[in-house]
Amino acid sequence: MAFISTLKSSWFALLVLSICISMAASRVLNEKLMIDRHEQWMVKHGKVYKDIAKKQHRFKIFKSNVEYIETFNSGEHTFKLGANHFADMTIEEFKAKYTGFRPSLSNNPLKTSSFKYENVAKVPDSLNWTAKGAVTPVKDQGQCGSCWAFSTVATVEGINKIKNNALVSLSEQELVSCDTKGEVEGCTGGMMDDAFKFIVSNGLATEKSYPYTARDSSCAKFTSVVHITGYEDVPQSNETALLKAVANQPVSIGLLGDNIMFYHSGIVDAGSCVAKNVAELDHAVTAVGYGVENGTKYWLMKNSWGDQWGDSGYVKLVRDGIFKEGTCGLAMYANYPVMHRHKKMD
Ligand SMILES: *[C@@H]1O[C@H](CO)[C@@H](O)[C@H](O)[C@H]1NC(C)=O
Ligand SMILES: *[C@@H]1O[C@H](CO)[C@@H](O)[C@H](O)[C@H]1NC(C)=O
Ligand SMILES: *[C@@H]1O[C@H](CO)[C@@H](O)[C@H](O)[C@H]1NC(C)=O
Repeated sequence: MAFISTLKSSWFALLVLSICISMAASRVLNEKLMIDRHEQWMVKHGKVYKDIAKKQHRFKIFKSNVEYIETFNSGEHTFKLGANHFADMTIEEFKAKYTGFRPSLSNNPLKTSSFKYENVAKVPDSLNWTAKGAVTPVKDQGQCGSCWAFSTVATVEGINKIKNNALVSLSEQELVSCDTKGEVEGCTGGMMDDAFKFIVSNGLATEKSYPYTARDSSCAKFTSVVHITGYEDVPQSNETALLKAVANQPVSIGLLGDNIMFYHSGIVDAGSCVAKNVAELDHAVTAVGYGVENGTKYWLMKNSWGDQWGDSGYVKLVRDGIFKEGTCGLAMYANYPVMHRHKKMD
């Protein structure tokens, strides 16, 4: 009996030991796989770290982000996340470097004199300004809080195509370097309102003649080729009004950017990205269309984090969701430029 019980307990001890070893081994294996993934990710995104300490620090953040993304993707969601080029950054670092919308709280709720699309009676069921040739290829703001400039320029490019039938890529750097009279501007962050006002007075140069550097610098002499006469705000927290506007031209949108840092594809649902106060908005994109997919209504937004980010640089967000402020607060701060047809293009 004693012999059998000794045998039993030693067998049990062996079993426990072997489970422990295999758990430790799989932990080591997981760590090794994660290190490999980090290495591959570094190659893919051209990342180089100064030294081992820095690399280890970034690896820890990468690992925690990848674990978060995988857990999220294994759940039931209408959209997927991906370990994109932001995967070695914390959300705080990301916010500080890659967003840059600083809504003016003195201008809340937004009110300009008129909303020219108020009486639009009918809009198409779906619309894609990119397919209509009114959207330039996705751009990349880099490590500069200039989303406000990209959002503004994209809507001016859009209305210029619609009014003058010319799709011309225009200059964000002109706004970053020259539109410096606002509350905050340049890579520190800014607002589309100020940018539209600046364009009314100064026009916009081409991207080619005033290329983007992702840095604050002194204003260079430029030749503007496109002019606007003004801008209007879309009535706040009203997606019906927003639909009327987007049906007629691309629209600048302020939203909460944090929750879409790792967006990969699908439609972001209203509950996954909630902003109910203008002060929470930290990023700007451009609404370039809308539609319905698998019974879900969505907005199509062009972003400025490069075409490696998200759905080829775009994101879809639930339209007419559970909050009047819109998914990620997208309906709280929307505006668009007003342009008359040029007599002739310069
Ligand atoms: C919009 O149009 C572009 C260009 O045709 C296309 O690549 C993209 O998939 C379209 N997006 C949607 C959501 O329909
Ligand atoms: C929303 O906008 C629409 C269209 O501009 C307007 O008719 C409607 O009264 C607005 N709704 C609210 C609640 O303000
Ligand atoms: C819509 O359905 C198709 C086919 O079932 C699926 O591949 C796609 O991911 C779905 N899109 C969304 C946004 O859920």
